[in-house]
Amino acid sequence: MESSSWPSGFDERRQDIHDRSYPEQSTSIRRPGRQAHELIGDPHLVPGWWPATSNLEKLTNSTSSSGTASSLTNAESPPDLALSIAVEARGLRKEFDGLVAVDSIDFQVLKGECFGFLGPNGAGKTTTMKMIYCASPRTSGRLLVEALDVDTFPRETKAKIGVSPQEENLDPDFTVFHNLIAYSRYFDIPRRVAEARAEKLLDFVALKEKRDVVITELSGGMKKRLILARALLSEPKIVILDEPTTGLDPQARHLIWDRLEELRRQGVTIILTTQYMEEAARLCDRLIVMDKGKIIEQGTPQSLVEKHVAQRVLEIPAEPEVIIELEKLGSALFDEIGGRLHIYTNQPETILADLQKRHAILRSVIRDATLEDVFFRLTGRELRD
Ligand SMILES: Nc1ncnc2c1ncn2[C@@H]1O[C@H](COP(=O)(O)OP(=O)(O)O)[C@@H](O)[C@H]1O
Ligand SMILES: [Mg+2]
Repeated sequence: MESSSWPSGFDERRQDIHDRSYPEQSTSIRRPGRQAHELIGDPHLVPGWWPATSNLEKLTNSTSSSGTASSLTNAESPPDLALSIAVEARGLRKEFDGLVAVDSIDFQVLKGECFGFLGPNGAGKTTTMKMIYCASPRTSGRLLVEALDVDTFPRETKAKIGVSPQEENLDPDFTVFHNLIAYSRYFDIPRRVAEARAEKLLDFVALKEKRDVVITELSGGMKKRLILARALLSEPKIVILDEPTTGLDPQARHLIWDRLEELRRQGVTIILTTQYMEEAARLCDRLIVMDKGKIIEQGTPQSLVEKHVAQRVLEIPAEPEVIIELEKLGSALFDEIGGRLHIYTNQPETILADLQKRHAILRSVIRDATLEDVFFRLTGRELRD
């Protein structure tokens, strides 16, 4: 999408957010996500991945007394890491009648980055998203959006965040266009402004032709795109997308990816949950893997692949004698997945040639390791639904 198709002032505001967040950088740079995590170096290499928060705490305390966030984003402010933090959680916890859905987790999302939450069903991703966008109060811990406590400042928090929830919640009685207009009232957006934004956003998500169609006539992919447009109506600084492409066909998924990449270039902070590793690897600057309410791993997609698997994977049929040999060898990392052995190695050709000396190995595949390999290593293969 051309930046000119945004509502008036939108691009300028994005650039302004970027400039205030990264005052030391050239204003022509529009890749704040990648640069944002460079502020704290490679998270995989630095012990204690998340930056210290002493300055943030100072700022938070001073902000609470002034009651606004504006003092934190003043262009005069020193280039402080705290100013670059969009969302911070410390010991964030949510219980439902004794069930611990989110088990005292810590994370920080930097402004302008795309930050992913991965994990099997029931990991606690949606519960975490809902706490951030004020749809569900936390049980305990600390949760700040741009240095303001979300429970103390729910109006300010909601004004900053656009939400695409996991469950589709469009109004079936309205047309596509009127869903956007009705939603704009929650943000007190003047009618004419809302109409102009709605037209441009429908163009952005390729739904112009469906403008006057009722929701029941939309495909799943169209509904997801409309929900994305709706999330952008208030021109939020932060967009939370809870499984934005689940159930979509590849074309629809790629269109959403393309639009999210465009938003990220505009400087919007994107927080995303997904079950698709390809999606996370493609979009996310950094990500967290959750399981059973806890964070079990975190880092850049590349660093997680390097840490947990090798560069490449040799896949061969899971024959018992080969497994015994690999176990004896002890040096090759492997998993048995769906009747196949996945051997993680930087020398797949050498291992294959060696195994072929003693075994008839059919249907071997050599490929690059992916985040999906990491995901299975970390969360296992048992079904979670
Ligand atoms: N409103 C609720 N009441 C009771 N339990 C809930 C509620 N919402 C979520 N849970 C439970 O919390 C856990 C985490 O759920 P959720 O955050 O939806 O996981 P995810 O989005 O990772 O699939 C699950 O065990 C789920 O059943
Ligand atoms: Mg969920």
